[in-house]
Amino acid sequence: MADFDLDSTFIPALHKPAELLPISKHRESLLYLIENHSVTIVVGQTGSGKTTQIPQFLDAAGWTAEGKIIGVTQPRRVAATTVALRVAEEFGCEIGKEVGYSIRFEDVTSSTTRMKFLTDGLLIREALADPLLSRYSVIMVDEAHERSVSTDILLGLLKKILKRRPELRIIISSATLQAEEFLRFFTASPSEAKPDTSDKEQTAAVVSLEGRVFPIDILYLETPAEDYVARAISTVLDIHTREGDGDILVFLTGREEIDYAVQTVSDRLLEMDGQKQTLQPLPMYAGLSTEQQMYVFDKPAENTRKVIFSTNIAEASVTIDGIVFVVDCGFVKIRAYNPKTGIDALTTVPTSKASATQRAGRAGRTKPGKCFRLYTEASYEQLPEVNIPEIQRTNLAPIILQMKALGIDNVARFPFLNAPPSELMARALEWLYSLGALDEYAKLTRPLGYRMAELAVEPMMGKTLLSAESFGCLGEVLTIAAMTSVAGNIWFYHDGEKKRMESSRRKFAAEEGDHLTLLNVYQAFVTAGKKESKFCHENNLNFKTMTRAVSIRAQLKRHLEGFGITVNESVAVGRGHQQQRDGSSKAEQIRRCLTSGYFAYAAKMQPDGTYKNVAGDTTLHAHPTSLMFNRKADWVIFREILETGDKIYIRDITKIEKNWLLEYAPEFYKVTKPREEI
Ligand code: CDP
Ligand code: MG
Repeated sequence: MADFDLDSTFIPALHKPAELLPISKHRESLLYLIENHSVTIVVGQTGSGKTTQIPQFLDAAGWTAEGKIIGVTQPRRVAATTVALRVAEEFGCEIGKEVGYSIRFEDVTSSTTRMKFLTDGLLIREALADPLLSRYSVIMVDEAHERSVSTDILLGLLKKILKRRPELRIIISSATLQAEEFLRFFTASPSEAKPDTSDKEQTAAVVSLEGRVFPIDILYLETPAEDYVARAISTVLDIHTREGDGDILVFLTGREEIDYAVQTVSDRLLEMDGQKQTLQPLPMYAGLSTEQQMYVFDKPAENTRKVIFSTNIAEASVTIDGIVFVVDCGFVKIRAYNPKTGIDALTTVPTSKASATQRAGRAGRTKPGKCFRLYTEASYEQLPEVNIPEIQRTNLAPIILQMKALGIDNVARFPFLNAPPSELMARALEWLYSLGALDEYAKLTRPLGYRMAELAVEPMMGKTLLSAESFGCLGEVLTIAAMTSVAGNIWFYHDGEKKRMESSRRKFAAEEGDHLTLLNVYQAFVTAGKKESKFCHENNLNFKTMTRAVSIRAQLKRHLEGFGITVNESVAVGRGHQQQRDGSSKAEQIRRCLTSGYFAYAAKMQPDGTYKNVAGDTTLHAHPTSLMFNRKADWVIFREILETGDKIYIRDITKIEKNWLLEYAPEFYKVTKPREEI
């Protein structure tokens, strides 16, 4: 070995030095304000260094002495992992050491962790075990402007915790100017008619970081686009052939659109050779694995222009360098819950003006940029100023379950930034009652309600899982819970291999529906496949996703064991069809068990092959990725419902018997639904 190795002598400068970030000028004043105020609100352009630098400033200033840690919350899992990786790199440690992250089912922290990035939902969950969040010296609520339901609840919770822990420091960071609202929230005291102004100065302070932004040309369409995905693709190709250097960021609304666009751009590229530069299309959305997400941050190869098709994740939560062109479709997918139908659907709606400005701003970070809005200027004028906070348009059942478990009995009196509509609240309480999580006094039941709150799965799955022992199918349901909780695609295929993937999928198909199919896949993976990637490769399965499902299953199992519920694995092996002692098959028990949790998501197939919900007022379609797509059934339950375009799709569907609904949810179906239907 040579004693002089060039590669190891010179360390390449990976990043722009942190001293050049706008936040560095504010370091001392920020630390002073944090020292002297309970709450510091930091407002600054995306990219000014809030997320990556503030935790490091605090660490260097001694806020992590005596084993205390700094927590930085993010509304999204993706953001929590990507920023943690970045900070670990800047700090010069392995991820999980001094800098770590923790998201649902993935805890990459250790006893040495001092800066911890986590989702806001997970921090709320931590409060179940440690109500005063006593391990944290500072909690930074990042991306507060997104106003996710968990951010809002967390802020209310922190306001309460501050009364008991005056030494705790809270930082609220926000990309857009909503500082006043946060300031008012933390300084207003409901018991006093007139807030004490001197006290107000003590409690909270606002810092505004001026960020450097280059001018951005905004371009509109003259006539509205009929199909914004097609228009986005053609705009990208136009930019590529006509505009100068610089990467492109395209805002679309969801995974299907993004996968389609990435595929189409790749196909078109094959047709248009002779270009001096190539185009590299990349997807960015929450369902991607961490590795897949990291590709968008890599520098493109020489003579290659990156084009990233993203959901609004790239709007403020993650920053991708080198973007000069932004293409904005003008829409965003939001969860909107209809308390009348009980449908919690992902709906595509126009963005707000604040979002449009934020999206455009992604283009001007390194040099002057351009933003192509795929709508007319007149439509822009009609956009709402800001988005409606999630808490006012979501199914509140999961969060109310958490709040109850935190001892907040009177949810109506909780300090909300914006109170949710009472109809949403009432519906959530009703629903939790029908699941057995709340009693008739709206108190959390023991043990069911408490356990449902503690399990890191949605309430309906929590109920299913906690009933599984009595149905004699705990091992199987545990697997189903893991397989439906795993982020990322289970099926994997290369370009042009879709048919092959579909035939692979048919090998595992169970006629009872998707849940049993998932069970078959998992069991084949852990037994026949010996958890090996070769097996996955041969069967078009995503090895990483499958490995994660194994880990999630183990975590859920440990949680159940913590409740004193033992999982007998010997019965869990097999294809789910052996006879039970009472003559019913294992598969039937699993379907019954699923009904006991998902009864509210039931539907009946119509002669034309579509489904109708129980109330009979909504037409539902089996999602093309479902095994039940184009198959016959009578009654079914499903796990998820989403609206795309003008159709409402249901996913993860299993056949059931109509009378099971009455058997497992008599109250729900007798009291709140028309009788004749059932
Ligand atoms: O939080 P804020 O938007 O104010 O900025 P930040 O996320 O701390 O980003 C500061 C700088 O780090 C920017 O120049 C980003 O481009 C860069 N960064 C990055 O390159 N990769 C990441 N995963 C995160 C940040
Ligand atoms: Mg940030």
